[in-house]
Amino acid sequence: NNKHELIYEGKAKKIFTHDDADKVKIEFKDDATAFNALKKEKFEGKGKLNCLISARIFEILIEKNIPTHFIQLENENTMIAKKIKVIPLEIVLRNTAYGSLCKQTTIKPGTSLSKPLIDIYLKNDELNDPLITKDRIKLMNILSSDDLELIINLTLKVNEILKSFFKNIQLQLVDFKLEYGYDLKNNILLGDEISPDNCRLWDLNQKNGTIVSLDKDRFRNDLGGLIEAYSEIHRRINNFLMPK
Ligand code: C5P
Repeated sequence: NNKHELIYEGKAKKIFTHDDADKVKIEFKDDATAFNALKKEKFEGKGKLNCLISARIFEILIEKNIPTHFIQLENENTMIAKKIKVIPLEIVLRNTAYGSLCKQTTIKPGTSLSKPLIDIYLKNDELNDPLITKDRIKLMNILSSDDLELIINLTLKVNEILKSFFKNIQLQLVDFKLEYGYDLKNNILLGDEISPDNCRLWDLNQKNGTIVSLDKDRFRNDLGGLIEAYSEIHRRINNFLMPK
């Protein structure tokens, strides 16, 4: 990446310029952070695994006509993507109650939700990514109500695609977080990454119903075996051929 300038460095990725002004290079780092970076650790090989997993998931979504920023892999830990202006919202979709939903409500962990729940958070480290309302989003002029509806509907569609994809590889899609942005022509594209860093995935190959997390909860909850879990996700994705 020597002749490409670093545009932005986040907690898990670095964004570089590309020869084409409408593209960027996204390099996945080995760092894992949780609780707004209060907890931090390096896992050798995590960047590569998340890059390869994300690339495959973006391909699946693109096949199903979801507009995403993904163009192609450049190498095992770098992808080329369309340049977007990120909308500062984190769109979380939950199929099963877990994590912050259970800390902030009386809903018991593991409760299956009768329909997907969408929780929207303001992407702002200083404010600790607070849960936000549609009216507050409007008040801050972050995006139009039509565009908000559009990204909510895209998120529901992504859920239907990924829920059934993961089920095929014996994984329960508990919840996930998406980010969107505007490309240079003002189209809304799905951005960021889709990996065990921002999806909760539980192993369905468990007979007695015990929860086995194959995602970043291994780090958040000090369970160990993060690289083993991410490698297992990668292995299952690679071994599976999507039915037409
Ligand atoms: O912590 P919480 O239960 O709200 O997380 C819901 C989902 O969103 C999880 O899959 C988690 O990995 C993801 N998430 C994320 N980035 C955040 C917060 C949550 O990827 N800043």
